[in-house]
Amino acid sequence: MAESNVRVLNDITAVACAAAELFVKLVAQAQAERKPFRVALSGGTTPTALYDALASPEWRSRVRWNGIAFFFGDERAVPPDHPDSNYRTANDHLFRPLRISDGQVHRMKADMGALEAAAEAYEQELHTAIGGLFPRFDLALLGMGPDGHTASLFPGNKVLGEDTRWVVPVTDAPKPPPRRLTLTVPVLNSAGQILFMVTGKDKAEALREVLEGTASPQQYPAKLVNPGPDCLTWLVDAAAASRLADYSSQSGLLS
Ligand code: 6PG
Repeated sequence: MAESNVRVLNDITAVACAAAELFVKLVAQAQAERKPFRVALSGGTTPTALYDALASPEWRSRVRWNGIAFFFGDERAVPPDHPDSNYRTANDHLFRPLRISDGQVHRMKADMGALEAAAEAYEQELHTAIGGLFPRFDLALLGMGPDGHTASLFPGNKVLGEDTRWVVPVTDAPKPPPRRLTLTVPVLNSAGQILFMVTGKDKAEALREVLEGTASPQQYPAKLVNPGPDCLTWLVDAAAASRLADYSSQSGLLS
């Protein structure tokens, strides 16, 4: 298992606050060095609590928001105003409240035409915005499903083994909607820091398997996330951690 910091917190609110502290700390470090900060946002519903925290008076004033570029780890093939859109969740809870300019946001346009072409278009956007052998995000936020998927990297899917492309289409996601775009494993693992936020009892078994089990990463794709020592933090609530043998929270980046 990747070297990771696992912090167990009471509930999703505590997870969101801890995530907001880590986010602000990382941004402050980059901005102190006059560097741009590039973050890949995760999908699903868990990040909403983090977005709301960051947009709240307690955190919003601690960041120079115009120095941050926002990307996405994955997106569903739906319009940007669709309830299933990861972009819409971020736009409603983070971009609009913080008046983030459109130029700072790199939407994954999975709804625009053929998925293959949309994947190539986003890869091109990453080349232009970041470049490199693989694009390096300062921070990648990730969630995890009850089946151990992360981003739109689902168990047994052929894209798990993609080691050249940066963005690939998924047409058969078991979590609806089925058609998506996702960053690939080598791109995620190029991030400076990766932060998983996992809450809820329905994820307890997958979390145990990912952090402590021996099953194949093909079965639990979150196991493929391994950005290197001291680059991976799990912020989980007590319900999601309820099956972990080592239940005690360990020191993490926030300590
Ligand atoms: C997606 C996500 C996916 C998500 C997990 C957790 O687009 O569905 O990227 O990987 O992070 O399924 O989703 P919840 O936060 O809604 O539990």
